[in-house]
Amino acid sequence: MSVKSDTALEQELAPRSSFPILSRSVYGRPLVYLDNGATTQKPQCVIDAITDEYLNVNANVHRGVHYLSQEATRLYEEARATVQAFIHARSTAEIVFTRGTTESINLVAASFGEAFMREGDEVIVTEMEHHSNIVPWQLLQARKGIVIRVCPITDEGRLNLEALSQLFTPKTRLLACTHVSNVLGTVNPVQDIIRMAHAHDVPVLIDAAQSVPHMAADVQALDCDFLAFSGHKVYGPTGIGVLYGKEQWLEKMPPYMGGGEMIGKVSFEHTTFNVLPYKFEAGTPDYVAATALARALDFVSGIGFEAIEAHEHALTVYAREQLSQIPGMRFFGPSDDAVISFLVGNIHHLDLGTLLDRLGIAVRTGHHCAEPLMHRLGIEGTVRASFALYNTKEEVDALVQGIDRVRKMF
Ligand code: ALA
Repeated sequence: MSVKSDTALEQELAPRSSFPILSRSVYGRPLVYLDNGATTQKPQCVIDAITDEYLNVNANVHRGVHYLSQEATRLYEEARATVQAFIHARSTAEIVFTRGTTESINLVAASFGEAFMREGDEVIVTEMEHHSNIVPWQLLQARKGIVIRVCPITDEGRLNLEALSQLFTPKTRLLACTHVSNVLGTVNPVQDIIRMAHAHDVPVLIDAAQSVPHMAADVQALDCDFLAFSGHKVYGPTGIGVLYGKEQWLEKMPPYMGGGEMIGKVSFEHTTFNVLPYKFEAGTPDYVAATALARALDFVSGIGFEAIEAHEHALTVYAREQLSQIPGMRFFGPSDDAVISFLVGNIHHLDLGTLLDRLGIAVRTGHHCAEPLMHRLGIEGTVRASFALYNTKEEVDALVQGIDRVRKMF
């Protein structure tokens, strides 16, 4: 197994020193940051992009003839092109900037729901969805009386594809499914799922919040109809995310919010809407965050997913092996990806997380915004360690030693 030590990582993958926060300490101990599924730390180039734009460029985009506005607009549209290339979309018209995955999914639920769903129509989701891919559909259910059908998971934490194939009916209008479970680390076979849905003429929305940071995304190869992800989980800033949508759908969908920029002409009698993607970008966008997101994607591309996947996979396998030596260790899910959820003996997840924190180790505890999944697993919550490209074998060792220390206290 080749899990990189700090030194090897410096030389071959990504310099940890690119991430200034990783060298800080908490409670007088070196920070071991293993909560990357919640948000990733930012490399210096992303921090610099934010500072530079506020220092040198700041002006509203698409609204000014003056120099700074033109410059800010150029950076904003270049960022869109960077996103387009990163996920291999056909055109920048298919890249809508949002505040994050949650807003992207809410946009589709509201707008696709408005255009294409009536009372009794059905959306398929899965038992392993994050709340952000459940609640928007429940809001639509309350407004329009749609039906939510749920694909079950197996005891191993994988989607039951046989059951999924039975859920399609003539009333199915959309399938909305996560690519990678934020709790189980399951990598779903989205290509097969999309093919299955398309065979029923059902479009597919992929929640890629937990996959885009870890593996190459190619919306054309996948042939998904919509794909949502967040900037802050892929080393970019908070408050910016992306909705990819096939032009054929976005063209037919009504605006999600009204305001500046999304209009063509406005009068009190009649308003027309802007072309794609601006029809879905009402109000002043977070253009600074868009530029910084583009720098984050450049940073990731510079390292390459081959190296990132190899490193994170080896680290995950190593961590599962080491953690499994701890008496009372119970894993939840297959951890295909950089996510490991577990409980140890009768120790409450909150106690374990809190005591690990005092050792400088940051993990997430609780239901991970996936309460229906917790019900399925028959638990209240888990402890979750989630890795990023900068994590090391030494940090996994610190986690294992930390858990063992806490275990001995109980
Ligand atoms: N969705 C994020 C997580 O899984 C916040 O932690």
